[in-house]
Amino acid sequence: MTTPLSFAVIGHPVAHSRSPEIHAAFAEQFGIHLTYERLDAEPDAFEVSAQGFFDQGGTGLNVTVPFKERAWQLAQTHLSPRARDAGAVNTLWVANDCIHGCNTDGVGLVTDLRRLHMPLDGACLMILGAGGAARGVLGPLLAAGAAHITVLNRTAQRAHDLIDAWVLTHQNDKPKLLSGGFEDVNDRPVPDLVINATSSSLQGQTLALPAALWASNACAYDMMYGAQPTAFMRQAHQAGSRQIADGLGMLVGQASESFRLWHGKTPAIEPVVSQIRAQLRTHVR
Ligand code: ATR
Repeated sequence: MTTPLSFAVIGHPVAHSRSPEIHAAFAEQFGIHLTYERLDAEPDAFEVSAQGFFDQGGTGLNVTVPFKERAWQLAQTHLSPRARDAGAVNTLWVANDCIHGCNTDGVGLVTDLRRLHMPLDGACLMILGAGGAARGVLGPLLAAGAAHITVLNRTAQRAHDLIDAWVLTHQNDKPKLLSGGFEDVNDRPVPDLVINATSSSLQGQTLALPAALWASNACAYDMMYGAQPTAFMRQAHQAGSRQIADGLGMLVGQASESFRLWHGKTPAIEPVVSQIRAQLRTHVR
């Protein structure tokens, strides 16, 4: 048998990562022989660890918190347009002795919204949060046909800065984009879909959102996921949202796009979402 291709996810901490199971399930769909491990890098050792992985013959690396911006730096000379826009990289590989980087998070979100038949093409979207997670999905959501996107953030200035920076390099998108603080909900277009891109669900915190946000029974999508509905999902449910989902499908969707970049094949997402969901329910890793 030939030597298996070698992959890993690098982060700190990384023990929680589901990527090894997801990529093993994808590989099984195509009969591809690979290994996929978790690489826990000390905060000051990301670059050395990543370079060392490739020097030892590694084929591809996924990058997770807190190293996505440093991966962007590492792949600076060979970034995909998506990675350039996102300012962060979650997928690395080597070609012609150079490290290449892409960001598949936004494509993962778009794939999942389509799988769930949530509003997207021609829809009015609202993104909550203005950090790296929000920046990473802006381009793919626009490319998928969103008619309008409002970015609202607890700290309004950060949302303004995000949109101003985007418009500087994507002038044509200007009419489609607005920004503000949570308190500006009433003055912004009524959303068909509200996406939580804040890290509030990580801490189990409820967002201080005006009730008016849900007046249209907008759909709700949390980029976080867990065994139980997140705080944002519970909040949306209480406010009468008509369709609510967590980000597990986005996680599997971004992995699917990484897999496509590395192997040239697009795996089926649905069975892997079901598999990981079942594992979450039974707390089996
Ligand atoms: P990430 O890369 O995951 O986006 P980040 O850059 O630290 O992480 O950004 C976190 C985002 O979650 C920010 O938009 C933050 O809002 P502020 O800019 O006002 O800090 C938002 N956030 C985190 N906890 C929150 C909470 N409890 N309520 C509202 N927003 C919150």
